[in-house]
Amino acid sequence: MHSRNQIHIYTCEIKEKCAARDSKRTNFQQKIFEKLKEETPELLEKVHLIAGDISLPNLGMKEADAQLLIQEVSIIFHCAAIISFTKPLDFILRSNTLSLCSVLELCRKMRKLDALVYTSTVYSNCNRLNFPLKEMVYRLPFHANQFIDLLINQDNVKLEDLVGHCKPDWPNFYTFSKCLAENVIMDTASDLPIAIVRPSVVINTWKKPIPGYAEENSGIITLIVGAGKGFVKVFHADPNNKMNLVPVDIVSNAHVLAAWRVGTKRCASPFVVNCTATERFDIKLCEINKILVELGDQFPLPQSFEEHSRMIIVPNKFLFFICKVYYHYLPAVVLDGFIRILGKKPRQYIEIN
Ligand SMILES: NC(=O)c1ccc[n+]([C@@H]2O[C@H](COP(=O)([O-])OP(=O)(O)OC[C@H]3O[C@@H](n4cnc5c(N)ncnc54)[C@H](OP(=O)(O)O)[C@@H]3O)[C@@H](O)[C@H]2O)c1
Repeated sequence: MHSRNQIHIYTCEIKEKCAARDSKRTNFQQKIFEKLKEETPELLEKVHLIAGDISLPNLGMKEADAQLLIQEVSIIFHCAAIISFTKPLDFILRSNTLSLCSVLELCRKMRKLDALVYTSTVYSNCNRLNFPLKEMVYRLPFHANQFIDLLINQDNVKLEDLVGHCKPDWPNFYTFSKCLAENVIMDTASDLPIAIVRPSVVINTWKKPIPGYAEENSGIITLIVGAGKGFVKVFHADPNNKMNLVPVDIVSNAHVLAAWRVGTKRCASPFVVNCTATERFDIKLCEINKILVELGDQFPLPQSFEEHSRMIIVPNKFLFFICKVYYHYLPAVVLDGFIRILGKKPRQYIEIN
């Protein structure tokens, strides 16, 4: 691999709402950076932040920034994505799949490219139930370019029709977008050194750099914190469904190893890695809920809505709707009413999807 790869660059969304978070990132104020700041502060001086938006052409980067990447960078980790199970198809594909096309375009211009690591998900093929998921790309019935052309031409009707012909159905467009992204790599870029890492459900760190670290509002942590603080009281699922959880430090290490593997040409491209815990560690939703209740009682979360919060998992859709109205909407409407009486404007709700 190129040894002069001294520059670490990542893009961040250009949005005002992100400004505060980005300044926090620029200054590495999060607890996770404390050890690094203490032991090797010079490493952080190598980090360059570049503004961008993956849903825009050329990733929304300034030309000078794009040139910097083209000249200096040899390894790309493409992790940015919209994780939403409710957003419309074209929005999700634009953010999660078309953005990959822009990254691939960038890679083709990069003189020193050693490796591109694409973060997919182990659920990219969750439409194929009950079969062992191999470390290979499962092909869609149509060439990836057919989807991409319709996306570029903004032909949503034909796009939905084409996706509708891909069977069995995916439970949401997010998982489909990841499957299509894998197919884009297979169909258009298998000549580039690419690894596809497929984590299962990513949770807090196991060991490194500090055990148990999690960032609020990321992935399933949003649900766990919401339940722990007493805001999420009901959840629609089968309590006996099993979850496969994998610590984020394992996922990061898997990305680095995958980059090394393709960068040193020790495998064919794309190199696919399922980054999951073994079945032995699968855990039922009701078991997770029990553990969360015990932990919540022992270590109550700050700024909680109530002290000993409990979340009920409801498998029946109709019953869930009734519980949701009773536990979520009614208290919210009453609280908003009080806030209005005090002459203030209630805050907008955050969607958990
Ligand atoms: N969490 C999981 O359990 C899980 C499991 C399997 C795979 N994955 C994959 O892992 C990756 C990271 O997921 P995560 O859980 O860390 O999600 P996350 O917390 O929502 O992070 C998503 C990242 O993407 C960035 N992003 C989103 N839209 C963007 C845009 N238009 N332009 C630039 N950046 C944008 C976000 O930047 P801002 O913060 O600036 O908005 C954020 O850094 C994703 O590819 C996801 O599919 C996650």
